[in-house]
Amino acid sequence: MLKVDNVSFSYRTKKVLDNVSIEIEDGEIIGLVGENGAGKTTFLNILATLLKPRKGTITYNDMKYKSKKSAIRKQIGYVPQDIALWEDLTVMENMLFFEKLSWVKKSEKELKDILLDMQLDRFDSKVKELSGGMKRKLNLAISLIHDPSLLLLDEPTVGIDLKSKIEINDILDYMSEEENMTVIYTSHDMDEITQLCDRTIVFGQDPFYRELLEREGMPIS
Ligand SMILES: Nc1ncnc2c1ncn2[C@@H]1O[C@H](COP(=O)(O)OP(=O)(O)OP(=O)(O)O)[C@@H](O)[C@H]1O
Ligand SMILES: [Mg+2]
Repeated sequence: MLKVDNVSFSYRTKKVLDNVSIEIEDGEIIGLVGENGAGKTTFLNILATLLKPRKGTITYNDMKYKSKKSAIRKQIGYVPQDIALWEDLTVMENMLFFEKLSWVKKSEKELKDILLDMQLDRFDSKVKELSGGMKRKLNLAISLIHDPSLLLLDEPTVGIDLKSKIEINDILDYMSEEENMTVIYTSHDMDEITQLCDRTIVFGQDPFYRELLEREGMPIS
């Protein structure tokens, strides 16, 4: 379980998060929604241990973020918004590169299986030859190499074609249902959020998102 208790965050004098609290059970899919600049990415970066909250506490499976950062990091898969891949290397070379950095060792067969789960079979294509959707799927595949139990994704389906989007949604759904992975992700696509998520957290002051989600009967925390 992930427990976020009264977390606040500011960049210098700009307050971005104000007393955010939520308890998330293993295997839940949580959508972070809200207008541009509302603090979704900031919150994800805090959950990914990349930023420290100014106030409040976070625990994951009874480990405190403050004192058990490296143990918690091993459990986290993070897919940032900007795709970080080696463009001149092939899909498989990218997987092998990141496997070397990973604390969990995987065989080439296991790495291929992760890619195939993603409907990505162009192992020998250079990344620069891939579509945006395929790059996104490769990024997601890389984040799964070390078998995380908590997966954090920043707009994983923005700007890609419908097929890749559905494939990514299917993978997230599978990970939560079958692997009991906790998935927390941001999206501006409300149809996707209402279809995929168990619950949402609304950020920012604009009542638009809250009203829309309430109309759809989507639980808001
Ligand atoms: N490194 C930074 N230094 C100062 N201010 C920042 C920094 N990063 C983000 N901000 C500001 O903090 C606020 C929250 O930004 P954040 O990126 O978390 O929003 P977001 O909800 O992810 O927005 P978007 O939907 O556009 O991705 C914004 O006003 C942003 O300008
Ligand atoms: Mg953002």
